[in-house]
Amino acid sequence: MRILVTGGAGYLGSEVARQAEQAGHEVLATRLDRAPPHGRPVSLDIRDENETARIFLKHGPDVVIHTAYRQADEEVWGAVVKGTHNVALAAHRADARLIHLSSDLVFDGEREGRYTEDDEPRPVSLYGDAKLAAERLVRELHPEALTVRTSLLYGTLGAQEALALRDDVEFYTDEIRTPARVDEVAAALLELAATDVAGVLHVAGRDALSRYELARLLAAAHGRDPDTVRGAPSPPGRARNVALDSSRADGILRTRLRGPAEALHSL
Ligand SMILES: NC(=O)c1ccc[n+]([C@@H]2O[C@H](COP(=O)([O-])OP(=O)(O)OC[C@H]3O[C@@H](n4cnc5c(N)ncnc54)[C@H](OP(=O)(O)O)[C@@H]3O)[C@@H](O)[C@H]2O)c1
Repeated sequence: MRILVTGGAGYLGSEVARQAEQAGHEVLATRLDRAPPHGRPVSLDIRDENETARIFLKHGPDVVIHTAYRQADEEVWGAVVKGTHNVALAAHRADARLIHLSSDLVFDGEREGRYTEDDEPRPVSLYGDAKLAAERLVRELHPEALTVRTSLLYGTLGAQEALALRDDVEFYTDEIRTPARVDEVAAALLELAATDVAGVLHVAGRDALSRYELARLLAAAHGRDPDTVRGAPSPPGRARNVALDSSRADGILRTRLRGPAEALHSL
C-alpha cells in the first residue's frame, strides 16, 4: 500500500511510518518543521487547502493516516479544524482511505463508567471542541473515513515520560484516562488501514487509571522512585473521567491494546 502519514515527525506519526516501512509499504511522511525519521518526506502545511489537495492528487496514496495537530489554544483551530477539513476533502478527492486521529477529550468526563462510540461527545476544552468539529467535518466530507479516538500515548521517550521524570510536576489523582502504548496504537492503525471499518472507533489501553497512577508507572519503568511522584487534585473545568471503552476495537483487531501495568514490562 502507499500510505501517507500527516505529522510524519510526530510521536504517533513517526511510529506509524516506521512500522509501515518495516512492513514493506511505500510511506510518505508529511513534514512541517521537523524532519520525519521514517518514510519519504513530503513538505506540507495542512492549513493550506490547495497545497493539501495538490500533494494528495500528485502522490495518490491508497491510505491517509492523519495524525497532524497542534493543541495550543492559539494554533488549535487552524491545525485541527481547518487542517482536518483540508485533509478530509483532499483524501476524498484523491479516492484515498482516511483514518483520522481524535481524542478522549471530546467527552465531558462526567460519567462513572467508560465512554463507548455511542455516547454523546460534549467537550469542555477548546482542544476538545476543535477535535469534535474535526470529527464532524470528516464524517461530512469523507463518509467512508474512520475516526479513531485514543487516549494518552506513552511507550518511547515522549511527553508523558518526560513529565514523569520531572520532580516539579504534580499529577492529577482524579483525572482518569485509558493510556495506550504508542506502538500498539500504530499497529492498530495499520491494521485498520487495510479494512473498510468506518465511523468512530475507540482504540485505547485496557486500564482506566489516573494521571498520577500513570506517572508512577512511567517513573518506575524509567528508573525513578515512584514514591517521589507527587499527586494533586485537578483544577475545576477539566474533564474528570474520559476512560474509553475499546471493546468494539478488541473485536476487530489482532493487535492487543494492553494497560500500562502490563505493557511497561516489555519496554
Ligand atoms: N499524544 C497523546 O497523548 C494523544 C492523546 C489522544 C489523542 N492524540 C491524537 O493523536 C494524534 C497524534 O498525536 P502526537 O502526540 O503524535 O502529536 P505530535 O507528536 O505533537 O505530532 C504532531 C505532528 O503534527 C505536525 N503538524 C502540526 N501542525 C501541522 C500543520 N499545520 N501541517 C502539517 N503538519 C502539522 C507536527 O509537525 P512538526 O513535527 O513540524 O512540529 C507534528 O509532526 C493527534 O491527532 C492527537 O490529537 C494524541
